[in-house]
Order: sequence, then structure tokens, then C-alpha cells
Amino acid sequence: MKTIGVIGAGQMGAGIVQVAAVSGYRVLVSDIGLAQAEKGKAGIAKRLARAVEKEQLTQPDADAALARIEPQGDYAAFAEVDLIIEAATEREGVKRTIFAEVGKVLRADAILATNTSSIPITRLAQATPDPARFMGVHFFNPVPVMKPIELIRGLATSDSTVAAVEAFAQSLGKTVVHANDAPGFIVNRVLIPMLNEAIFALGEGVANVKDIDAAVSLGLNHPMGPLTLADFIGLDTCLEIARVLHEGTGDPKFRPAPQLVKYVEAGWLGRKTGRGFYDYSGPEPVPTR
Ligand code: CAA
Repeated sequence: MKTIGVIGAGQMGAGIVQVAAVSGYRVLVSDIGLAQAEKGKAGIAKRLARAVEKEQLTQPDADAALARIEPQGDYAAFAEVDLIIEAATEREGVKRTIFAEVGKVLRADAILATNTSSIPITRLAQATPDPARFMGVHFFNPVPVMKPIELIRGLATSDSTVAAVEAFAQSLGKTVVHANDAPGFIVNRVLIPMLNEAIFALGEGVANVKDIDAAVSLGLNHPMGPLTLADFIGLDTCLEIARVLHEGTGDPKFRPAPQLVKYVEAGWLGRKTGRGFYDYSGPEPVPTR
């Protein structure tokens, strides 16, 4: 593999583009328009500049990585790529529409993968041109920092597809784990109920935002408290995953916390909208409740 296509230049997509470009791949990136794809590249330029400041990367290497990133206004050039990774919004309808569109230019020997955090791969495969060349490749946020990649095969995914994507994931310096196509795979099956429970605890008045975060972060030695982490992931994404777990298992233990639903309905999606369980407009995050 030499050329990768990434669909989505948000926090996950841009992270994937960055690590692939730094690892030597030419990377085409698209979003809802060229301007958003360019914005994603501008954010990567800033992060590469910081990596140079910290002497984690040389200036020529950062320049070369940036030059390998090519924002696109449509999918025409995706006909050149060996592997397409879809990292769009965590909504099944959005992903299906993308697969139908990009499927028109997907080469007969190229692979299509999705960074979905929880939607069943076998079901999504039905919207792609060839389920044998489709699988899940799940990165973690922040992509440049987080080590694992979950690989998820659908019922029809071929062995050669898994082998090619595994080789790609390892070439990024990541640790590969394999998960079955079950709701939430491994990490979100464990993580989302914990975050959801913290939100239930907040809603039931067990403690306030700061104390829940301090207690869990310090008490369990986690780098972030659960409400900070939910804001970091995006409350809309947390809710989508909670719903997939709830609907996919039919188990009421996975029902989304009412306050998670309420915050999403308010458009308080966490860091990306500047407000969630915390308000991010000042120098330090301040609890919103
Ligand atoms: N992008 C790239 N790099 C970032 C970053 C970002 N958004 N945020 C922080 N970093 C880097 C910093 O540059 C720094 O790198 P170096 O050590 O090489 O200099 C490193 O991360 C540590 O950053 P800081 O010192 O600024 O801050 P920190 O020590 O508080 O760490 C953190 C920040 C890495 C985000 C840490 O808080 C952490 O690990 N949090 C938990 C993250 C987590 O659980 N992620 C998984 C979310 S679940 C998911 O992604 C799956 C899903 O489907 C929902």
C-alpha cells in the first residue's frame, strides 16, 4: 500500500491522516467540502509544528509529511488509492451514503474500511460494493498518541483483506487487537457503560461534575475523569455508541443516561462545540452544572 484515502477530516479523520502521512503514505483526504478538508490539513500542520518544537520530528520530515497530504473536494481521485478509511460522523445513514458514493470509484483491488466505533461491520458491508474487501479499523483519540487499533472483520471479510489492513496498521507503529463484530467491539463495550454510569451518577446527584471526575481519575488512575473523557470523545458519539449497545444487545443495562440525551439535544456536544459537562471558552474548563 502506498496511497491511502481518508473520508472525514474531523478529530479522528485528521488524526488518521496525520499518522499515515508521518509513516510515509500519500494521503488523500475529503470531508463535506474542500474547505473542511483543507481545515483538517491546517490543524495537522499545527500539530506537526508542535512535534517539531518538541524535537519529536525534524522540520524536513514534518514538511514531507504535510506535502503527502492532499485535500480533495470530491471522490474522483480516490480511484488511485489502495485503502480508503471512512472516518465520518458516527451515523449509519451518513456512512451508507458515503460507501455508495465512494464505492463508484473504489478500484477492484482496493480495500474499504470504516473507523466506526460500534456500528456492526456485517450490516455496514451491505452498503459497500464488495463485503469481502470491507472491514472495521478502529482508531482511538488522540490518534497520534493512542496505541491500539481494533480490527473487526465482518462475516464476508476475506483473509487477504484482514492481512493487508493488519500490515498497514502495524506500519503505523500501532498495536493491533482483533475483535469480533459485536456491538461496541472491545473498548467501547467496556468504556461507554462506564461513562454512561458517571452521567447517571451526576443526574442522580451522587456528586458534582468535578468530584466525579477527580474521584474516578485519581481513584482508578485514569488520565481523565469520565465526564472530561465523554466531552473529549464528543457526547453525540457517546450517545450513538450507547444506543448501538442498547439496541444491539437488547439489554437495559446499556440504556443511555437521560442527561446524556439532554446534553446532545441541547447541542452541548463537549469540546468540539465548546460546551458539554464543561465550558471550554475560558483558560480552564469550568463545569456547566
Ligand atoms: N492530538 C495529538 N496529540 C495530542 C492531543 C491531540 N488531540 N492531545 C494531547 N496530545 C499529545 C501531546 O502532544 C503529548 O504528546 P508528547 O507526550 O509526545 O509531548 C501527549 O499527548 C500528552 O499530552 P499533554 O501532556 O498535553 O496532556 P495529558 O498528559 O493530559 O494527556 C491525553 C492528554 C493523551 C489526551 C490523556 O489525557 C489521555 O490519554 N486521555 C485519555 C484518552 C482516551 O481515553 N482516549 C480513548 C477515547 S475512546 C476512543 O477514542 C474510542 C471511541 O470510539 C470513542
